[in-house]
Amino acid sequence: MDYSSYFSVRHDLIPVEQILSYDLYINSSAIKDKEKFIRIFPQGEYLTKTDLESFQKKYYQLYVAESQRKKFFKSLVKATSINEVEKVTVIKDSALNYLQNIFEGNKEFSTELLSQNIEGCRDVVESMVDMLEGKDIDGLRSLITNLSFHDFYTYDHSINVCMYCISIYRAIHPKATRVELMHAGLGGLLHDLGKIKIPTHILNNPGGLSNEDYQTIKKHPDFGLELLLSGHCEIDKDLDLKVIGRVIHEHHENFDGTGYPNKLKGREEIHLLARICTIADFFDAITTKRSYNEVLPITEAMNTMRKFRGIKLDPDLFDIFDHHVGYVRHDIHRDLKLLDSFDPTLPYAKLPLEDVGKFKKDLDFGKIKVVTDKDRKKSS
Ligand SMILES: [Fe+2]
Ligand SMILES: [Fe+2]
Repeated sequence: MDYSSYFSVRHDLIPVEQILSYDLYINSSAIKDKEKFIRIFPQGEYLTKTDLESFQKKYYQLYVAESQRKKFFKSLVKATSINEVEKVTVIKDSALNYLQNIFEGNKEFSTELLSQNIEGCRDVVESMVDMLEGKDIDGLRSLITNLSFHDFYTYDHSINVCMYCISIYRAIHPKATRVELMHAGLGGLLHDLGKIKIPTHILNNPGGLSNEDYQTIKKHPDFGLELLLSGHCEIDKDLDLKVIGRVIHEHHENFDGTGYPNKLKGREEIHLLARICTIADFFDAITTKRSYNEVLPITEAMNTMRKFRGIKLDPDLFDIFDHHVGYVRHDIHRDLKLLDSFDPTLPYAKLPLEDVGKFKKDLDFGKIKVVTDKDRKKSS
């Protein structure tokens, strides 16, 4: 991280009547690109409501040093006066900022820039792990529906997948360690890293892609792994970059060995975190509304996913996931199936669905059949 940089914080996100765990700064320069940050309140001192109100009157904007972002997040997660959606929005904004730096740094891509921002992502994931403690998959799903979404699909999607990976891992291993959850979350956040190398007009074209474009998109797991390992990131001594690399590389492998890039098969060949990520990726792609796509109601989404149980998705992991998602389990209105070619990476304006439940309509489910004398004679 660039420790000489600062980020702005809203006054209402700063906890009062307690010891502040980070320093507060103001920018004393009015000249753009020539900021001069001055510390106005030190960490370790008791901040009163009156102190903060006087800062609010005097200064337009308060800042925190980038080097203390982790402390800021920790205090934010603990704050009882701030609601959950607000907290996650702040953490998410931070994640968006790092992802934007990674993806838009493409033009002048440097491994140093990548490493710095992956380090930032690490802090974000740590806060997400804290934030999602005690929240089940279903609670997370409703939280995600309350978050606003942005223009570039990959950012929102990556953050959602990160959160789902953490929650799914916790559902599988209720006693999961922090380090395990960090791997799951970071793998989810960076799973589509390789999309940096895919032209935006291909990624954001819901109007139908040529076969050539699709072949280009299918390279993103390879690109992602290369980028991650080329960055020589030292994110944390406890975190194994190779594990995160496996999530990036294997999240499009199918359980039955028909996926890409290497047609890996089953539990032996596909990393657990990658199999979790596949479920999170799939689920978010069909349930989270974006600017251009249609999504499925939850019952239909789960019925649709179930058809890929053991095919694209690990059957045991899917069952655990299924168990934790709350929905009406029997719905006979529409029995939908996504085409086998469905790929959560592709931008669909309309999901490629077919209704395989026509037979149910023919059987007149739910209708009262009047038995006539003729019918009785026939059956006797
Ligand atoms: Fe992907
Ligand atoms: Fe994805």
